[in-house]
Amino acid sequence: MHEFRYVGNRLHCERVAIDKLVQQHGTPLYVYSQSTVEDHYQKLDHALAPLDHLICFAMKANSNQAVMRTLADCGSGFDTVSEGELRRVIAAGGDPRQCVFAGVGKTDHEIEYALRKGIYSFNVESEPELVRINHVAARLGKIAPVAVRVNPNVDAGTHAKITTGTYDNKFGIAFEQVAGVYARAAKLKHLRLRGIQMHIGSQLTAVKPFELAVRKMLPLVTRLAAKHPFEFFSIGGGLGIIYKTALASAGPDWWQTAAARDILTPAKYADTLVPLLKPLGLRILVEPGRFIVGNAGVLITRVEYVKRTGKKNFVIVDAAMNDLIRPAFYDSFHEIVPLRKKGGALVASDVVGPVCESGDYFCKDRPLPKVGEGDHLALLSAGAYGFVMASNYNTRALAAEVLVKGNKSAVVRPRQAIESIWAGERPAPWQQ
Ligand code: LLP
Repeated sequence: MHEFRYVGNRLHCERVAIDKLVQQHGTPLYVYSQSTVEDHYQKLDHALAPLDHLICFAMKANSNQAVMRTLADCGSGFDTVSEGELRRVIAAGGDPRQCVFAGVGKTDHEIEYALRKGIYSFNVESEPELVRINHVAARLGKIAPVAVRVNPNVDAGTHAKITTGTYDNKFGIAFEQVAGVYARAAKLKHLRLRGIQMHIGSQLTAVKPFELAVRKMLPLVTRLAAKHPFEFFSIGGGLGIIYKTALASAGPDWWQTAAARDILTPAKYADTLVPLLKPLGLRILVEPGRFIVGNAGVLITRVEYVKRTGKKNFVIVDAAMNDLIRPAFYDSFHEIVPLRKKGGALVASDVVGPVCESGDYFCKDRPLPKVGEGDHLALLSAGAYGFVMASNYNTRALAAEVLVKGNKSAVVRPRQAIESIWAGERPAPWQQ
């Protein structure tokens, strides 16, 4: 499952003791396990082997160049949502011809850039966007490969902010309108109707919503594929990971354990979906982000102060909501463990950052080992939507990132220099 575990009393990432990395690089520090990223990619790739398939890693989850390179070397394609992401793919040695480009607000400039780089397909989210892509392609004398993103109106039963496949969301084209949209798109001369796409939400821990959405889509896809030269059906991303018992799910054999019953393993995903999809005879694309990298990263932070006020035990750490916003934004749970294992009674604690907002917390009233100033904590399962959502709020520098492989480690992004935060700013001319 992942490569973070205690060896003796010390938390390791693969064969590297994380406290050593902290000594060298300070905190807050993101640490990623390359072997975990590779293992997750391969597990999914293997499970989907009966299908002609392409995994397009949703790089919005983690776009560090070293992580991207790892996946490019595995043969992964990428699900991109901006010109910046496409540029990152190319910088990391990825192949734009294995990239899809999603998002509801693609600009002319982004469409042109993606066309020039020869991406595999645009995942189109509205009819005006189809018209615009056709127009830009005509100007460039190109044919644009497109797939319509279908909103199947299936409730994924996940957090409201990460549900995408119902009619309350801004995403995709309503199921009932899709056939008409394809019929009109077929008349646009600079489009190639290469496929069809859906994505129903993120952090799905059961296969049922995927199954329902795929079953709903199958007749439509079959009908449309008979009319248009479809090559692929993308079923999106969304495979959930373990947050609550992350530490207990360490090790490559974890997938075989009883605890794996409660999570959507690649095998369960494939066992249900492959038999449904295989008869289509189409190439199947998947766009997992969190599943590949979520459990492959941790955020390490130092305890600065412990403060008891009224009934609360506040553990004040040097990481904050600007480094990992998920608890503040989605009320999400990240397991928190000390870098050096501690015995003794557990204390109900709020782990909070230094940012001046009450929302700046990592947990509330959670039973944790008693820690003191100078101890270090690891926030687990922070490899997806962690660093990528970081900001400079409170003029706090972006954390450093380290990649580990076996007994090797390397800084794959140094800690941001504080002055660089305002380097592009200047007084207006009249203020000189
Ligand atoms: N495909 C599309 C069209 C998407 O919108 C997304 C995620 C994915 C694939 C990848 O989903 P995944 O496999 O990672 O679940 N920041 C939030 C998650 C936002 C997801 C946005 N879209 C979080 O921290 O939970």
